[in-house]
Amino acid sequence: MTLKPYVLTEKQFLPYHEVTYPMEERGLQFGDGIYEVTRIYQGMYFLLEEHIDRLYRSAASIRLSVPFDKDVLMEKLEQLREMNDVKEDAILYLQVTRGSFPRNHAFPTENRSNLYAYIREMPRKINEIEQGVRAILTKDVRWEYCYIKSLNLLPNVLAKQEAVERRAFEAIFHRDGIITEGSSSNIFLVKDGNIYTHPATERILNGIVRMKVKQFCSALGIPFVEEAFSINDIAEAEEMFLTSTTSSIIPIIQVEDQIIGDGKPGELTRKLQAAYEKAAGLAVKSGK
Ligand code: PDD
Repeated sequence: MTLKPYVLTEKQFLPYHEVTYPMEERGLQFGDGIYEVTRIYQGMYFLLEEHIDRLYRSAASIRLSVPFDKDVLMEKLEQLREMNDVKEDAILYLQVTRGSFPRNHAFPTENRSNLYAYIREMPRKINEIEQGVRAILTKDVRWEYCYIKSLNLLPNVLAKQEAVERRAFEAIFHRDGIITEGSSSNIFLVKDGNIYTHPATERILNGIVRMKVKQFCSALGIPFVEEAFSINDIAEAEEMFLTSTTSSIIPIIQVEDQIIGDGKPGELTRKLQAAYEKAAGLAVKSGK
């Protein structure tokens, strides 16, 4: 999976091997920054503006200034896509940090944020989308500002590694018996024909795909209930699925030893996948 040759930085477009930062970079030393991952399908951004709006919200939450105004940034990202002649499925990764300064926890007195954005080829996860995946449960030990898309991802990294080592696709966080979200996704459960998911509080990242699923449910007349569910509810789930920019909508067919529903992707999940594919202009129905 290749990295595209040109990168946007706070100063200019550069070939990726020329993008370097000093050791004393606040993203590297403190995780003092934020990021976004946006989907690209067949060379076109999907929901870019939603991601950029969330980027500015995250920045405001940590009193960080983004080097460009929204309109300029959107234009530069469009230029980045064109310069790289992107035609395939990919992702755009964009991060902003509080800059490079002599190490000191407190904010630097000068406003010099670093920004970089690059594009990496990333095919759709067709097998997972079609067949569904296994997930494990893990304790949510994160801070209280999970709604900020911050670079501080150590608990998420440890959770995902646990999932990998236990041959699962995702680790689902629980706090006080309540399911919050996945290590890099939002989690949904279907019971009595209703779709339940954790409300968009400070305990979760309000996913862009999550927000889309909410809209699809409203258009399709599927009850969408923003009410947290517990570990105990999993045994009674008719369906479960996860959403994220990189994954789109993926059915969860097993959590720990519990088979979900009949162990196959459920009907509502399929309907939402179809709505997503239509919205993303993906003509072919999930692969086959
Ligand atoms: N992660 N929750 C967490 C903790 C996430 O990291 C993500 C996405 C989501 C889903 O958000 P969205 O639908 O906006 O992608 C929820 C990205 C993809 C990542 O870190 O790679």
